[in-house]
Amino acid sequence: MEAKEAIRKRKCVQKYLDKPISLKVIYEILDCARWAQTALGAQSWEFIIITKQETKIKLAEAANQEWISGASVIIVVASNKERIEFTMKGHPPNNYAVMEISAAVQNMQVAARSLGLGTCAAFVFDHKQVQEIVKTPKNVDPISIVTLGYPKEFPQNQRAPLGEFMHKEQFGAPFDEDIPNKYNKKWNRNSLIHLLG
Ligand SMILES: Cc1cc2nc3c(=O)[nH]c(=O)nc-3n(C[C@H](O)[C@H](O)[C@H](O)COP(=O)(O)O)c2cc1C
Repeated sequence: MEAKEAIRKRKCVQKYLDKPISLKVIYEILDCARWAQTALGAQSWEFIIITKQETKIKLAEAANQEWISGASVIIVVASNKERIEFTMKGHPPNNYAVMEISAAVQNMQVAARSLGLGTCAAFVFDHKQVQEIVKTPKNVDPISIVTLGYPKEFPQNQRAPLGEFMHKEQFGAPFDEDIPNKYNKKWNRNSLIHLLG
């Protein structure tokens, strides 16, 4: 699948088939993750690969999100603070760790989609509990719990029209070029609700 297609067809999937994922596929996904943009080369990511059901259940509890335990494989993506702090020394404080990890997670999701897998990246969880479950040292901070699996289905996704986000030269000025319908289809904002289902 071409990159553009995988990007457009990526959709948060929370229901998975009981079908194993080969190690080769895991390597492909994590290899794509490590080619994400990185703050001055920090490459602060750490990937903890979880296949044991008892650990999946603990992670689901730490996130208070039961669906997590139904994933075939879970990757806890963590930031190695020593690496990011070393490269970003002298720059104004900011959440560079989250930025780097988010870029890697997005690559994982797109790569997985291109290989026919569904993913969902949970960022809302009890960080201390997850640190304890996967035994990260103090300087390694779990940022995302990424679930992987062959999906029961790929639900349809939707986005607001591109024109809603485009401004000409300055914020608020309408972008008055003709935007093709393909990018600018009308939609019903209420249906945002379905994204969370
Ligand atoms: C900052 C952030 C935090 C998120 N945390 C969670 C989460 O804890 N649990 C979850 O199920 N999904 C989480 N997601 C995934 C979104 O719920 C999902 O992307 C959203 O439903 C939109 O659907 P889509 O990704 O299929 O377009 C998170 C996404 C972002 C960007």
